[in-house]
Amino acid sequence: MSDQTVEHYERIAADYDEHWSYDPDHIRRFSQAIVDSLRLTATDAIADVGCGTGLYTRRLAAEVEPERPILCVDPVPAMLDRLPRSRSLQPLVASAEDLATGRVAAPDRLDAIVLKESFHHVADRRATLEGLAGLLSRHGRILVVMLPRTIGHPLFREAHERFEELQPEPAEVVDMVSAVGLRAVVSYRTFHTTIDRERYVRMLESRYMSVLGEFSDEELRAGIDQFRHAYRNDPVLRFDDHFAFIKGWVRPG
Ligand SMILES: C[S@@+](CC[C@H](N)C(=O)[O-])C[C@H]1O[C@@H](n2cnc3c(N)ncnc32)[C@H](O)[C@@H]1O
Repeated sequence: MSDQTVEHYERIAADYDEHWSYDPDHIRRFSQAIVDSLRLTATDAIADVGCGTGLYTRRLAAEVEPERPILCVDPVPAMLDRLPRSRSLQPLVASAEDLATGRVAAPDRLDAIVLKESFHHVADRRATLEGLAGLLSRHGRILVVMLPRTIGHPLFREAHERFEELQPEPAEVVDMVSAVGLRAVVSYRTFHTTIDRERYVRMLESRYMSVLGEFSDEELRAGIDQFRHAYRNDPVLRFDDHFAFIKGWVRPG
């Protein structure tokens, strides 16, 4: 993991939940989509890898009421420090690579692994997926939730371009999931999003997406000016947020 990624999440950790909680119903619907996709049940041993502050993990725990705590894995302690103390959430400071290679041991065989918007940060994706697949139980499943390369967020032009350069292609991740021996399937989910423009400006200013960490203060300021001009007649922004849900599960037998 690059120093830039660590610094980015250290910087935004304190305000992360505030930025992403513009619509609490969004978090509920999104978490429900994860529960449905993985068919999570209370008896599953679950890990959320790259869980961040646990904004979604908390909802997963509330929905599933797991018998064992959900393993909340993140390499940035400042993010994990925001996780509420709860019997259903067990923090573990580690990267996906640490778990995959066994550098940090997972306490149990896992029935379900969620990677929501964290897989793009993984350096050696194929080897990491292979290692994570090796942690799964006989009825184990893994879910990579990620944005496609082209997104509807009202970012400025340079941010869209940089995002497209950095973001992996979901189809390649599907192939990777198959290549490590899991059955793979992808579906797309759309979440309708509504945000006040001024709130969105604050999100841009605080670099709410890691791609915004790629820009200097001056470049960001220019991007926000561009944004303000483009949306000068829209006090409320509405856009569709499409996500790829890439699921892999252990082949029977
Ligand atoms: C965009 S945030 C998503 C957090 C959370 N899953 C959510 O949806 O709110 C990405 C998270 O991935 C974590 N991360 C960065 N590199 C990682 C890696 N190599 N393995 C696992 N997580 C990583 C970051 O620390 C950050 O908390």
